[in-house]
Amino acid sequence: MIIVDKDQKAKITLRINGETHEVEVEPRRLLVHVLRELGYTSVHVGCDTSNCGACTVIMNGRSVKSCTVLGIEANGSEITTVEGLSKDGKLHPIQEAFWENHALQCGYCTPGMIMESYWLLKEKPNPSEEEIREGISGNLCRCTGYQNIIKAIKDAAARLNQQAYQRL
Ligand code: FES
Ligand code: FES
Repeated sequence: MIIVDKDQKAKITLRINGETHEVEVEPRRLLVHVLRELGYTSVHVGCDTSNCGACTVIMNGRSVKSCTVLGIEANGSEITTVEGLSKDGKLHPIQEAFWENHALQCGYCTPGMIMESYWLLKEKPNPSEEEIREGISGNLCRCTGYQNIIKAIKDAAARLNQQAYQRL
């Protein structure tokens, strides 16, 4: 645990999308703001009160709303944001599925939705529609009505399963 006086900054280390960052943060600074200041601006702030899910990232293998974590609590963590999903200029299958199924309009919720879907499909490679609805229940979208997001997650599951099959 890091102990700092309230007016001091703490030095923390984060590994984000495979890159190591050493940063000084105020003890009250939320992880979502630390990530955005480091340039990971896909991580959105929709509410700051853990309601909307726009700030969702993967932290140490689990999906986390980064507005519910202090930067200093994340010290030593491995974090993945949407910026870390595409490889060699190619979109991740979940990103492709969102694109091709028109699963976004304004796009504000989309990075959080995609990271939550990423975690859901790691946990449950063949989710039922009910499991998908439950899985994204902490992520709000004010534009799409969710239908195409659910279609996209089903499509992403099929694409990822196909890839896994091709690797056998
Ligand atoms: S900004 Fe974190 S849940 Fe809304
Ligand atoms: S696409 Fe606009 S909030 Fe979801």
